[in-house]
Amino acid sequence: MYLLLFFPLLVLPALSVLHEERRSIPSSYARSLDPPAPDTPLPSPLRFFLQQSNVHLGPSALLNVSSPSSPFFRKHWTKKQVDAFFAPEPKRAEAVERWLASQGIPQGKIRRSRSGGSVDVHGLSVSEAQSLLNTSYSVYTHQERGTTHLGCTEYHLPEEVAEHVDFVYPTLQFDGHAHKQGVTIPLSARESAMRISGQEPKEKKRGKVGLGVPGSGSLPKQGEQLSTDQLNGGISVCGEFIVPECLQELYNYPAPNLSAPSYPSEHLGIVEYTPQSYLPNDLEMFFGYYLSPGVGERPTLYSIDGGYPQDEYLGFEYQGESSLDLEYAMALSWPEIPMLYQVGDLSGSASFGNFLNALDGSYCGENDPSVDETFPNSYWPYPEDCGTVPQATVISTSYNYNEFDLPVSYMERQCHEYLKLGLEGITVVFSSGDYGVGGNMGMCMDDTTGAMFTPSFPSTCPWVLSVGATQIPYGTTTPFTTPEVACEDVIVSGGGFSNVFSRPGYQDDQVAGWSDNYGPVGLGYDYNTDSMRGYPDISANGAGYVVAADGEFLLLYGTSASAPVIASMLAKINSELASQGNAPIGFINSVIYANPDRVHDIISGSNPGCGTKGFSTTPGWDPVTGMGTLNFEKLLEFYMALG
Ligand SMILES: *[C@@H]1O[C@H](CO)[C@@H](O)[C@H](O)[C@H]1NC(C)=O
Ligand SMILES: *[C@@H]1O[C@H](CO)[C@@H](O)[C@H](O)[C@H]1NC(C)=O
Ligand SMILES: *[C@@H]1O[C@H](CO)[C@@H](O)[C@H](O)[C@H]1NC(C)=O
Repeated sequence: MYLLLFFPLLVLPALSVLHEERRSIPSSYARSLDPPAPDTPLPSPLRFFLQQSNVHLGPSALLNVSSPSSPFFRKHWTKKQVDAFFAPEPKRAEAVERWLASQGIPQGKIRRSRSGGSVDVHGLSVSEAQSLLNTSYSVYTHQERGTTHLGCTEYHLPEEVAEHVDFVYPTLQFDGHAHKQGVTIPLSARESAMRISGQEPKEKKRGKVGLGVPGSGSLPKQGEQLSTDQLNGGISVCGEFIVPECLQELYNYPAPNLSAPSYPSEHLGIVEYTPQSYLPNDLEMFFGYYLSPGVGERPTLYSIDGGYPQDEYLGFEYQGESSLDLEYAMALSWPEIPMLYQVGDLSGSASFGNFLNALDGSYCGENDPSVDETFPNSYWPYPEDCGTVPQATVISTSYNYNEFDLPVSYMERQCHEYLKLGLEGITVVFSSGDYGVGGNMGMCMDDTTGAMFTPSFPSTCPWVLSVGATQIPYGTTTPFTTPEVACEDVIVSGGGFSNVFSRPGYQDDQVAGWSDNYGPVGLGYDYNTDSMRGYPDISANGAGYVVAADGEFLLLYGTSASAPVIASMLAKINSELASQGNAPIGFINSVIYANPDRVHDIISGSNPGCGTKGFSTTPGWDPVTGMGTLNFEKLLEFYMALG
């Protein structure tokens, strides 16, 4: 009996189980009838993404160090503790490697990532990959671009391997940006998908100066320049356009000490993706008017994967974002000099995963090559940066994707990485997008039931601080007696609810309160449910910033402006805390939601999009401006009182 029962099991081949399947392919692709030739090389290593440890314990661990009511508030973990807690158990990589060896894959072709989070098999042909995964690859052609893509619609793994593997690449993934239609910004498709907020097709409305920028694939529209007599007006200009002094006035933020000598600090890091870059001459122009001792100063450059402030490609579409971010970050941080993380080479294909690899070596090997760049590439013949740059305590990024453009697995792993940074005391700030409830370029999800809103990632990750945009109402004069309103001038504040991430506990009360009192009853269209993560969390002015870009003074609009402004102010709090030997603010969302008296509530305006009126601002949190704008002095007091 025993022999009969066990002996046959030992000789049967490993039982292969269906691991993942996809029921449809993106409509922009068509499958070729001819299968790929069996000896075609796989376009990238076959990557097995392994199950991570303790992922389900991450949220409570983060809230434990970030809720003001917790006894462990701001008792951040060390990087070592974070890495050890989440590191995949070695048995997972070992199980995959053992199986690969049993399938005759030579040792030399198998590489485990530094984090132990993935195992790569190099140099496979299509037929070898097919037999490993018991699948059939097909060639898919993009109907507009004509590019081809290798993929499959299901694959199998033996049971004893499947339990250790999240997913395998390349299999079901399609280019994350394949659905982005009509976007033809120069350079690669990836760069165009990672759109710069602050670009919008609508004509500007304000005053006689302004700037329209690319939308729906058109080239930039550039408004009139500002004349020099418009530049020096101090805060009397704030009703018309924004200069650094206006932000001090609006947010109770101190004027810079112009007689203090500058010094580099690690409280604020600004992330830019090449070919976006600043020109030294633009900084000089801006500082000449708005930060006289800053003339000659530069942000402290940290190059990632070949990134550098390029000056080969010039024009608003290349300098707009970096000029805006860096001119205002430097003006608000003085005398501290912020860090500039310049990511990626001239191919313009680097993405968030590449930045995170450089910031945190434990994330290396977690990239999804359908979204992130793989190095070396033809521009940068070196391995990817991996844990090579210092970590700023507040990190601001004004780039974003449509949530539906990205694989869910990519967003989940990346969102978990933002959680890990929060545990270490780092505040991760993202802009919420410029198209209201619509996606980049105003795109909406098509759903059988009608228009569906398009949330923005990473704003929908519960572990980042998402920043929307406000504006000063027309005709306001200083001192400001009218509160700001939601930004609807040229751009519209991005906001709404995720389709992927659930509502985090720290926003339960505020979002439930919004639903009960102002929930979108009878809007007459679909939106994702409010049991999901709502965004933005907070806002700052995003309309009509005076910026020097590519040799001209222009006006710029976008949550692109709002994010670095919030980040600069939070970094200032960290600087004050650090000067007294105290821990940084870290993941700040719980504090913001629990302290509505330390923000200015915004109660006028809305965020139309997708052919709808969008959401309206309301008292308390709303999916247009979040909790409102910052009252810097009051938030600083909160932290200084705690020490
Ligand atoms: C391969 O997959 C097919 C289904 O697509 C299944 O019937 C078959 O048993 C699998 N082969 C092995 C060796 O597991
Ligand atoms: C909070 O953190 C402390 C210190 O690390 C730990 O002892 C405690 O168990 C944590 N509590 C929760 C709810 O995670
Ligand atoms: C400004 O900086 C100078 C030089 O470091 C210092 O002496 C002065 O006290 C500072 N002023 C204020 C108001 O902090």
